[in-house]
Amino acid sequence: MKFFSTLLTVLLLLLFIACGGEKSGEQAAEKPANPNNLTDFEMENGIGPVKEKIQLGEINMELAKKGEETYVGKCAPCHKLDKRLVGPAQRYTVDRRTPEYILNMIMNPDEMTKKHPTGQEMLAEYLAPMTNMNLTLDQAKEVLEYLRVVAKEGHEKNIVADPVFKNK
Ligand code: HEC
Repeated sequence: MKFFSTLLTVLLLLLFIACGGEKSGEQAAEKPANPNNLTDFEMENGIGPVKEKIQLGEINMELAKKGEETYVGKCAPCHKLDKRLVGPAQRYTVDRRTPEYILNMIMNPDEMTKKHPTGQEMLAEYLAPMTNMNLTLDQAKEVLEYLRVVAKEGHEKNIVADPVFKNK
């Protein structure tokens, strides 16, 4: 009888450990590392002038056209749409980051690459720091509109862009 009760205790203990282990694993998957104690909003949407969710409507082609001009003049020296250059290929940026994150990265790249875990990861991959091009919020929103257009076009035409990370 002693044997069975010992066995039962061991089994219960194993079950407890297994469940406990699973739980902490789940938590680790849910919450990415956040050593700088960013808020949940900042973790998802970046650090910078945009501190609230913005509403995006249908794509506005007029704004996108202005955004394209800004992009060609100020961003194209370091970014191509489909190829990695100094910075990552921009074709599908809107698919991997929130609109607010993109605006904050454009307007506050210095802090983003120093304090935000994703920004830090990007800087570690690209090594060169992105320059703050001093866009106004309106100009940054126009560029965002342009990035929405190129992503849509990419999906329609099945355009393949370079991955963000070389070895990931
Ligand atoms: C001097 C080169 C340079 C210029 C100019 C530049 N970038 Fe960047 N950009 C980078 C680099 C390099 C990265 C990767 C992060 C890092 O290393 O700082 C980056 C990252 C980004 C990201 C984040 C992408 C992601 O998936 O997280 C966005 C968005 C971005 N740039 C948009 C722009 C826009 C829009 C402009 C023009 C207003 C611009 N960049 C101008 C070099 C540049």
